[in-house]
Amino acid sequence: MSANSVALAYLVAAILFILTLKGLSSPLTARRGNMFGMAGMAIAVLTTLSVTHNVMYILLAIAVGGSIGAIVAKRIQMTEMPELVAAMHSLVGLAAVLVAMSAFHNPVAYGIALPGEMLHSSNRIELFIGTFVGAITFTGSIIAFGKLSGKVSGRPLRFPGQHWLNLALGLAAIGFGVVFFLNPSWTPFLIMTAIALLLGVLLIVPIGGADMPVVVSMLNSYSGWAAAGIGFTLNNNMLIIAGSLVGSSGAILSYIMCKAMNRAFFNVILGGFGGEAEAAVGDAVQRTYRSGSADDAAFMMGNADSVIIVPGYGLAVARAQHAINEMSKMLTEQGVRVRYAIHPVAGRMPGHMNVLLAEAEVPYDQVVEMDEINSDFSDTDVVLVIGANDVVNPAAKTDTSSPIYGMPILEAYKARTILIVKRSMATGYAGLDNDLFYLDKSMMVFGDAKKVVEDISKALQH
Ligand code: TAP
Repeated sequence: MSANSVALAYLVAAILFILTLKGLSSPLTARRGNMFGMAGMAIAVLTTLSVTHNVMYILLAIAVGGSIGAIVAKRIQMTEMPELVAAMHSLVGLAAVLVAMSAFHNPVAYGIALPGEMLHSSNRIELFIGTFVGAITFTGSIIAFGKLSGKVSGRPLRFPGQHWLNLALGLAAIGFGVVFFLNPSWTPFLIMTAIALLLGVLLIVPIGGADMPVVVSMLNSYSGWAAAGIGFTLNNNMLIIAGSLVGSSGAILSYIMCKAMNRAFFNVILGGFGGEAEAAVGDAVQRTYRSGSADDAAFMMGNADSVIIVPGYGLAVARAQHAINEMSKMLTEQGVRVRYAIHPVAGRMPGHMNVLLAEAEVPYDQVVEMDEINSDFSDTDVVLVIGANDVVNPAAKTDTSSPIYGMPILEAYKARTILIVKRSMATGYAGLDNDLFYLDKSMMVFGDAKKVVEDISKALQH
């Protein structure tokens, strides 16, 4: 392919990537967005292959990596997606480090130096930044994967002087980067890489479980910048554009999630925030609550004018999304106005509830985001909280000592009647008791979400 055709093909792929992000911003257009992404990636890969030597090796690598990816994607449960994403980010970070090492080992093969010539100063800076960000992303993502999958403790690990140590290591890495810049040799390069690998671990270990989603999105952003770094090393505009898109969209997503969880954005970037979210449930005091059956719930909802369903992580665990859609259809047929209220961090990953409800083909006009629906709760007859806990915990509004104080919530407590479907009085992700469950107008309906919803549907038929 001529240089012009390559540039044109990359431009088309870049536009498709931008359309992908635009499409993914709404469940209505997400499928189309994914299609754009696949088309853009196919164009980008084929164009790159057309100007690459040793295509056989690359095809072999794509076949092996693609097969492993396909098997993993097929096997993974929806609830395990965050840890899979973290594992994937670690590979991007590792790739950035390995490409930088190989480019430094043989810059002529990468076309960034002529035989016998020293590496250009701009290439030295690129190699340093790419390796630094890549190494932090690699080990940081491994720790995030371990915490999310329960393979290492989700508790924050803290020690005195942690931030100072991180700062010292960061400065040391930059110092060795400067040495590498002045005199490009393996010793400063490897020391800087080792420090960045250690820094990746140290930045993530103090972060508590409840803040991991922001960390995953942050690492997503880092992995994008690492990929952009490789793009500079390889002189590949496509990789620079795609990496920057991932980097900036990950940063924007992190910002949105920080707002949704009431975390300070800069604390996240610096690491070591959020340990306070590890809640102390302590000695639970015996409190009284009301409980009822699926039949009772069916009676209340069947006689209501308006019902808002608040789905949470338990809906995903029980895989109750199809059952809840069937139940809503019945209620709608009986003249009840049914809507779903979506909290931005309900579940375990951004958009978790939207994906589940879309899978069950819940009509999009019934799915309403938190900011839009919060003012409607006070005017609603029944709220059905299903497998959700933290996202409806009023302590976030009223209890200044609560670890989730300040986090925006779905204001279910304002409704006339609140039905809560879960298996027990156990706490949710943040480990906190929930005053909502003990209100006079609340009723617990104990059981697995899917089973309870199916029972409600049966009762509605009679
Ligand atoms: P949680 O607060 O985790 O509560 C989920 C509730 O579902 C639990 O109290 C559990 O109670 C119930 N449950 C579990 N399995 C169930 C089943 N089979 N049937 C019925 N109920 C079941 O969930 P949430 O309200 O969705 O809040 C999300 C939390 O996760 C927030 O704290 C958020 O910060 C955090 N988080 C979010 C993300 C993202 S990005 N979405 C990522 C990581 C963490 P029982 O055990 O009594 O049934």
